[in-house]
Amino acid sequence: MIVDPETFDEDEAYRLMISAFVPRPIAFVSTRSPEGVDNCAPFSFAMGVSSAPMVLAVSVGSRHGRPKDTARNILETREFVVNLVTEDIAERMNIASGDYAPEVSEFDEAGLTRAPSLAVRPPRIAESPVNFECRLLQHVVVADNTVCFGAVVRMHVADEVLAGGVVDPRRLRAVGRLGYKYYCRTTDVFEMVRPRVTGPKAARPTEAR
Ligand SMILES: Cc1cc2nc3c(=O)[nH]c(=O)nc-3n(C[C@H](O)[C@H](O)[C@H](O)COP(=O)(O)O)c2cc1C
Repeated sequence: MIVDPETFDEDEAYRLMISAFVPRPIAFVSTRSPEGVDNCAPFSFAMGVSSAPMVLAVSVGSRHGRPKDTARNILETREFVVNLVTEDIAERMNIASGDYAPEVSEFDEAGLTRAPSLAVRPPRIAESPVNFECRLLQHVVVADNTVCFGAVVRMHVADEVLAGGVVDPRRLRAVGRLGYKYYCRTTDVFEMVRPRVTGPKAARPTEAR
């Protein structure tokens, strides 16, 4: 199958793309509307962009031609929190993804607990062991998506998921998104180390990542 996106049906393209570009982390984004409603919703079009400074990006789509509540809140308040999704909260994340009206808080609908953030107003999701408090650095509109780049102003990591200064995937038990209704666990972990290059290699002014 070879697809020319220019001539492909939009819905089919969406289904094909989200089932092929996998697995994706799920950014469970909490925001607070200007009216004070605490919103949270999952987004798997999300990525780490930079570690120094620490920057994450989340791509938020539109609904009926208007940006989803998360994008509206981020653009209006310039603050959001990215919470990681683990097996324990996967079902509540799914409940929070429903099409709720802006005045309804998904925290209450999904039975999630608000934990105060330190540097931004939107609360963290208490049940999530990793939270990134972000300030909007810039946004880029791509078709009907608003890609929000967040400068991380605080990162919270629960002690239980740490081992030797890094997050241990076996303790974290993060969930990834596949296509359609499919998700994956991250418990089948294996190891590889990057090759040691002996011949000519790229200049390394700083430690390679
Ligand atoms: C696992 C998962 C991943 C999702 N990823 C995205 C995404 O990347 N972009 C998007 O626009 N919607 C995504 N959605 C749908 C939104 O979560 C959904 O539209 C939600 O109602 C948006 O809430 P809001 O209007 O409060 O922002 C995803 C849903 C699920 C369950």
